[in-house]
Amino acid sequence: MTLLGSSPPRPDGAAKVGGTLRFGDDLPKEGLWYGATLRSPNPHARIRGLRWNPERAPKGAVCIIADDLPGPNGVQLLDDEWPVLAEGIVRHVGEPVAVVAAATMLAARQALGAIEVDYEPLEPTLDLSAAANQESLYTLELRSGQVEQELERAHLLVEGTYHTGYQEHIYIECQVMSAWWEADDKLVVEGSMQCPYFVHRSLIHVFGLPAERSVVKATPMGGGFGGKEDFPSVIALHAALLAKACDHPVRIAYDRHEDIIGTTKRHPSVVTHRAGVDAEGRLQAMEIEVVLDGGAYRTLSPVVLSRAVLHAAGPYRCPNVHIRGRVLRTHTPPNGAFRGFGAPQVQFAMERQMDRIGRCLGLDPLEIRLRNVLEEGDKLPTGQVMDESCSARLCLEKAARETDFQERWQHLEAKRRAPIDGESMQGVGLSLYFHGAGFTGNGERVLQSVVEAALLEDGRIEVRTAAVEMGQGCDTVLPMMAAEASGLRPEDVVLAPPDTSRVPDSGPSVASRTSMVVGSEVAHVVTEIRDRILDWWSNSQESGAAHTVEDGVVRRGNGESWPFRELARRYCETEDPLVVSRQHEPPEWQVFDEETYQGVAYPTYAFGADVVEVVVDPDTLEVRPRKVTAVCEVGRVLHERLCVGQVEGGTLQALGWGLMEEVKLEAGHYLNDRLATYIIPTIKDSPEMEVHLLERPWKGGAFGAKGVGELPMDGGAPAAVSAVENATGIEIDTIPATPERLLALTSAHRQVPSGPQDPKRGRRPGG
Ligand code: MOS
Repeated sequence: MTLLGSSPPRPDGAAKVGGTLRFGDDLPKEGLWYGATLRSPNPHARIRGLRWNPERAPKGAVCIIADDLPGPNGVQLLDDEWPVLAEGIVRHVGEPVAVVAAATMLAARQALGAIEVDYEPLEPTLDLSAAANQESLYTLELRSGQVEQELERAHLLVEGTYHTGYQEHIYIECQVMSAWWEADDKLVVEGSMQCPYFVHRSLIHVFGLPAERSVVKATPMGGGFGGKEDFPSVIALHAALLAKACDHPVRIAYDRHEDIIGTTKRHPSVVTHRAGVDAEGRLQAMEIEVVLDGGAYRTLSPVVLSRAVLHAAGPYRCPNVHIRGRVLRTHTPPNGAFRGFGAPQVQFAMERQMDRIGRCLGLDPLEIRLRNVLEEGDKLPTGQVMDESCSARLCLEKAARETDFQERWQHLEAKRRAPIDGESMQGVGLSLYFHGAGFTGNGERVLQSVVEAALLEDGRIEVRTAAVEMGQGCDTVLPMMAAEASGLRPEDVVLAPPDTSRVPDSGPSVASRTSMVVGSEVAHVVTEIRDRILDWWSNSQESGAAHTVEDGVVRRGNGESWPFRELARRYCETEDPLVVSRQHEPPEWQVFDEETYQGVAYPTYAFGADVVEVVVDPDTLEVRPRKVTAVCEVGRVLHERLCVGQVEGGTLQALGWGLMEEVKLEAGHYLNDRLATYIIPTIKDSPEMEVHLLERPWKGGAFGAKGVGELPMDGGAPAAVSAVENATGIEIDTIPATPERLLALTSAHRQVPSGPQDPKRGRRPGG
């Protein structure tokens, strides 16, 4: 019997769909006050004067500006460059300049009017071309082989520049944080967050508190998608500062408008490719430049860039690769973590480039990929050799077979060339992608994640991790993993709430790492508790006969059987409290050189291939995705329904990013700062989805499971755009592929080549 791979109901499900679960803004709190934020109206300006006029504010209201901070004015992420409140200069529209608190939400908003700010506007840097001449926020470089030489020698040189736009997370629950101070100057913060210990670190940094005097509790979350990885530290600091000033608990709850203008987004990108291929279309050399728009502050951009650089060459074999990455600073809101973390941007570019190479050689999207697909024994540009868990070809072939891709694509190419009046245009597109699971490089080693388990008096085992249920299903899957390893039942395990005073730092809930990294350790600590109790039981018996444990029942050789919980209860009655903890150690062969970017960047990679079918309206150029077939190889399926859910959700989010979602900024100001104008896919925009889960277990633990949360974000956009190209013949290098953009490309006569290019007339080096 195996539990893994089945689909038991999720424990948080009924309360979520029934509407009874209390989120951060629903929790009652005695004497609660409300916070509000004064934001910069300028993209770049000097603050000449900043004055709080309490006599003009509702009685009792308090205001905090940068000068009032008790410690460093910096949110502690990779560094503390991101100000808690603007100091002297504002660097983007919407930047927090002051925060206020009052007894009601209305009074807090009124109090904002009692702050006077005198700005001296400065010249803003608003786009990447202007930012390119200035100092970068971060740069990286990765090199393997002889790129320049091989580009010179190549049969054909194919170039392309690909652009991707912002993406707003649109978690259902907006950012919310409450803070209060208890006796002995102890700070308590609770709210919606992925990473309690990130918030904790910022609080002790700014307030100079000893670690134990800051307590951070993650409340049940209505989604995160990376958007609650970095920003919660900002809003937690604001709430804590206000709570201190007014001596009341303070809650800051953003509405959708404020959440859109005030929080981080996916980095827009420009990725430039130069590829040299041989006459058969095999990649000989690639030069790739990745540029990300970091916005005004560094936030987590260096690690987003790192993941981008490491995924930029896609799941393909190429012996000579040179990748340069830069994050540029603009006077726009800071961009940060978003599901995929840089990988979707670069793989959009790589996939479009593969299609372009194919067209230059008269090869369809499947054929060009089959000729270059990464296989066991091949090397990534980091020198990492692919092991037997490399499944790129498996995914590609399965996706193509399930959809008759090649035939369909050829048929629709032919149909496009001989259109029938008034008929809608149809297209089919393909993408191949991969995603490294867990923290990048030596990240997991530096993190030193710790997981704990303790025996409770009722005989259940409490598992203590900082993992946060944000919809992804960790509260369901972690007990299943514990049960699978130990022979206990999932209900014999209880998860302690992610509260820093109760759980150790098992790392943030990010980077597709929770099941793979935290889950492995949970399985170990629960099994260790079980073993300690079985040992104790054996020692107290005359015959030390072997035990088996299955489905929560302990059986001895003599036929005797006991529920585990009964034994565990007895243990508690006579023995000392039983607590075990374990620190995660990445496999010893996972060695990465942060200087040269050579080595094992991720212990394993999950792979995927998507086929998207679209219909395009010939009059309006509206694109309707009709069906997606997603093939994802995830190592081991832990919970089938949740795993399929991750793939469906991530794929739809990717389609939204590729086809419709667009944050529009003009002179640094938002043009669409609400859901009426920032359009995301609804259920009516969702195509039929067919998900195939494949398994090639990785050897490092977690029952073979690889990370899956971010993987499906990588494939939807390039496959959808490829399908639009198949339907319309418009060569698309920029997303979102909105009707407006498709019209502009049509007017600019951006057509795909009609057939194979003669290399002599092709885009040769230097020509
Ligand atoms: Mo994240 S984008 O939650 O790793």
